[in-house]
Amino acid sequence: MVELTIASLGARGDGIAHDDAGVLYIPYGAPGDHVAATVTGKRGDARLAHLDTVLHAGPDRVQAPCHHFGSCGGCAMQHLNDRAYSDWKLEILRQALARRDLGGTVIQAMITVPTASRRRARFTALRTRNGLRLGFNEPGSHNIINLTECHILRPAIVDLLDRLRALLTDLLAPNKRADVQVTETETGLDLWLAADLPHNAQTDMRLADFAQDADLARLSTGRRPEVVMVRRAPRVTFTGVAVTPPPDGFLQASRAGEAALVRLVQDGVANAANVADLFAGVGTFSFALAKGTRVTSVEGAGDQAEALIAARNAARRSGIEVEVRDLERRALSVEELSAFDAVIFDPPRVGAARQVDNLAVSAVPRIVAVSCNPATFARDAATLADAGYHLQSVTPVDQFPWSRHLELVAVLQR
Ligand SMILES: C[S@@+](CC[C@H](N)C(=O)[O-])C[C@H]1O[C@@H](n2cnc3c(N)ncnc32)[C@H](O)[C@@H]1O
Repeated sequence: MVELTIASLGARGDGIAHDDAGVLYIPYGAPGDHVAATVTGKRGDARLAHLDTVLHAGPDRVQAPCHHFGSCGGCAMQHLNDRAYSDWKLEILRQALARRDLGGTVIQAMITVPTASRRRARFTALRTRNGLRLGFNEPGSHNIINLTECHILRPAIVDLLDRLRALLTDLLAPNKRADVQVTETETGLDLWLAADLPHNAQTDMRLADFAQDADLARLSTGRRPEVVMVRRAPRVTFTGVAVTPPPDGFLQASRAGEAALVRLVQDGVANAANVADLFAGVGTFSFALAKGTRVTSVEGAGDQAEALIAARNAARRSGIEVEVRDLERRALSVEELSAFDAVIFDPPRVGAARQVDNLAVSAVPRIVAVSCNPATFARDAATLADAGYHLQSVTPVDQFPWSRHLELVAVLQR
């Protein structure tokens, strides 16, 4: 056991302390805390330590609102006051930009979303000898926290947990795991039990009763989702256009986060008449563009593109063309890009390296980048900056409160 004072926070949110032997990372330590800790291993050249006791709390430490905090992997930073937390989050972005020589970039004020606003959760369930566990994993572990409260999720999702535990106690074989995804939509909860469940009449009846009792909108089962019941088509409305997303389709984490991103994308695209929306999902940004705008929405997942097309047809938005295409294998070429006066790209966490290589040598006047990973964003932005794009500004959108994740929107101009 060692006694130390936490000096600062690292990019993962861990407290950083120093002693004669060098650096220690101490998860859940806050700056100024004087702590007793036990060294548990190495991280790179530094040591990793477990925080045993806070002997004297630093000025930024607050009482975490959730009793699972510290053991649940869903949140990393509930122990900091708001100012210290947002300073730390902004620092992640600043450092990611600085590492790519983009340190001079203008960073706008961070937009935050309310707690209890996340509309989708993916839980793990395990039937053990002592009962059914359902929740998020412990940090860096397969152990499941049996979630009884959650301050980031929409209340309707938390309220479903006990019912789900009863259902999965009946359906899961001993020692079997299942992934459980719940999405709150405007017409009710959309539940996907990603598990191999027994195929028999008893299971079907139990599922049907559950769907009714819980008033689900839709229920899907199987490792690859198969819809087994639609009581009401799940609906998400994007700028006035109603979409029924597939069970595993992408949605921005919260309505508030989505609204902030949409506004920033609209401002970024400005009055462009011909726009490519790359990695379009089910159309979050495509539908947000002005009706007269010609939009080419490109999405790799066929079922999401189909949902986008169905919604476009129902809303008579004939200015939106949809293409199913893998942009990693077959990025839009320089020639194809020449048709657009603005390009939006919103890739998964790995970023859009291939597509950005082609954008870098294109003549597209405006690019709006949306990203959930400051590191890959900074890499892609640096490629564009080296090719003559000016990174006008970056706006952080903290739609993952208390986590290590940060969303952002950036505007680049030729
Ligand atoms: C971060 S989501 C953004 C979706 C959408 N822009 C939105 O805001 O709802 C990324 C999207 O990229 C799609 N995607 C992932 N890899 C892709 C690839 N290689 N080519 C095309 N689309 C891909 C995913 O299916 C997902 O819909």
